[in-house]
Amino acid sequence: MADNCNSKISIGIPSIDKEHLFLLSQISDVINGEGLVRFDPLSAFKHLIAIIRDHFAHEEQIMILQNYSEIADHIQRHNAFIMELEYAIARLEAGDSMISIDKLSFYKSWFLGHITTQDRAFGQFLLHKQSERALLPNDE
Ligand SMILES: [Fe+2]
Ligand SMILES: [Fe+2]
Repeated sequence: MADNCNSKISIGIPSIDKEHLFLLSQISDVINGEGLVRFDPLSAFKHLIAIIRDHFAHEEQIMILQNYSEIADHIQRHNAFIMELEYAIARLEAGDSMISIDKLSFYKSWFLGHITTQDRAFGQFLLHKQSERALLPNDE
C-alpha cells in the first residue's frame, strides 16, 4: 500500500497501524480473488475472523492498560462486527454462498470507517495523555 494511503489511515500507534494495513490487505486480497473466497469462502471468512479477533484483542488490551475513557463503546463496536462475521460464517456453513464478495466489500468499508473514526479517537486520546504527562513536573 502506498505511503499516502498509510498516512490516511494512521492513528499514531505503530503496532496498531501495522495490523490495520495487514488486515486491509488481507480483505483486499480476498476481494480481488487472490485469496480463497472464489474457491472456499468459508475458509476465507474463518481466516479473516481469526486475524480480526486477534487485532481487536490487541487493541483492547492497550486500551485497558491506558484506561481509555471510551473503551466500553469501542468494545461494543468490535463485538458487533464480530457478530456480523459469525453470522456470515453460519450462513456459509448452512450452504448460502451468495454473500461473500458483497459482504467483504462491506467489511472493508466498515473497517476503514472504524479506523478513521473510533481507532483514530483512541490514538488522539493517547497523544493527549502523553503531552499532558510531558507537562507534569518530575517526581523527585
Ligand atoms: Fe483497529
Ligand atoms: Fe478498534
